[in-house]
Amino acid sequence: MQKLIIEGGTPLFGEINTQGSKNAVLPVLAACVLCEGQVFLKNCPCISDRYAAARILSALGAKTHSEQGMMSADCQSITSCEIGMGLMKAMRSSIIFMGALLGRMGECTLCYPGGCNLGPRPIDMHIAAMKKMGVQISDEHGFISCKAPDGLKGCTHSLSFPSVGATENIMLAAVCAEGETVISNAAREPEICCLGDFLRACGAKIIGDGGGRIVIEGVGRLMPPSEPFEIIPDRIAAATYLSAAACAGGELLIRNCTPVHLEAVIPVFEQMGCRIKVFGSNIYIYKKGRLSSADTIRTMVYPGFPTDVQAIVMAPLCTAQGTTVFVENIFENRYRHADALCRMGADIRAEGKVAVVTGVPGLYGTIAEAPDLRGGAAILCAALGAEGVTELSGVSFIDRGYENIEGVLSSAGAKISRITEE
Ligand code: EPZ
Repeated sequence: MQKLIIEGGTPLFGEINTQGSKNAVLPVLAACVLCEGQVFLKNCPCISDRYAAARILSALGAKTHSEQGMMSADCQSITSCEIGMGLMKAMRSSIIFMGALLGRMGECTLCYPGGCNLGPRPIDMHIAAMKKMGVQISDEHGFISCKAPDGLKGCTHSLSFPSVGATENIMLAAVCAEGETVISNAAREPEICCLGDFLRACGAKIIGDGGGRIVIEGVGRLMPPSEPFEIIPDRIAAATYLSAAACAGGELLIRNCTPVHLEAVIPVFEQMGCRIKVFGSNIYIYKKGRLSSADTIRTMVYPGFPTDVQAIVMAPLCTAQGTTVFVENIFENRYRHADALCRMGADIRAEGKVAVVTGVPGLYGTIAEAPDLRGGAAILCAALGAEGVTELSGVSFIDRGYENIEGVLSSAGAKISRITEE
């Protein structure tokens, strides 16, 4: 088992290059199934979820190759349309292969996906949309068997909630379906636009991604992009490093990110008292002295405040002067990091959707376990500013979404190391 050992109290100073987006590369890797040829991707994050997606592609018969940020996937000959439970349970994003396999093969067999325990995380919206496109679905003991005997038919589908995954699944099923598909109340996240850009580069006819209404005209087949496709920067990772600086103090220059994707997040750091400068694809943050509390933080779908940044921004607010109220509107169980932060001395009262954080003068190191990906990142950030040493286990959660997090933070002066215990 691996642990991160973090010795708090050292301000950060340095530059950090933003990794590629986990939540963009995963649907793009699923989309490779639709391409009859070899796809090249660049700026892929070196995170475990990327390799989990590559294992799914290999299990389907694709040939994949990874080298640092570069990846290739040759789906010329897909030999299977079945994904085993082990591969499906590795992450939530495995469910996106449903739309891609239906689009390419007209059938697939898989099971319910894994992913962080943030609540029930059903896939009812995914299933309802596939059925509307002519897919016959049987769900027996958690195994989902899908067949489109007459092929996929375009349809107009209104999502009851702008689900990111459901939007992506419908896009993947629709690009080669017969006729036109309209997705209304579609998710607007930047990762949706990245998938749309990739599919257009493969010859798909898609308009409206990034808005609430996406229109897709089915085409016969997709071919690989003519040049390597670049994955967008990870906005959640960039927010995480802003939080690390807010917790530890000092100054960081976060390079090669997309500041416009953080328009709901940056003002919160400014409210806390951090000095932020945005120029081009870079964000500079400086923090000295005690932070102040922020206005109520309500998580919303994009372009609102991202649910994935809720835990991350709670960390610095634990020692801010004043009280900050959080309202988590997206997931039912997303305050699992509060227990560990309270063991570090924080004053957090969480009940249902609401958490009230009353700032304390300082936090103390503890022995903690990451409850999920972003909760683990939040505890890590808090530990950077805490007095003493924190031992953080559950590192496999953090490695799912962050590339070499201890190396990146160490390069900015953090005292953090990874140990392996038998
Ligand atoms: C994506 O998850 C992200 N994951 C999540 O990031 C992110 O938190 C989430 O979108 C919201 O932005 C990836 O992209 C791999 P949803 P997804 O479908 O697609 C409910 C991270 O830390 N829902 O938009 O699963 C669902 O339970 C992860 O990087 C249904 O009820 O999110 C949730 O309450 C965590 N039925 C809400 O909608 C459905 O069929 C939003 O889910 C689908 C979703």
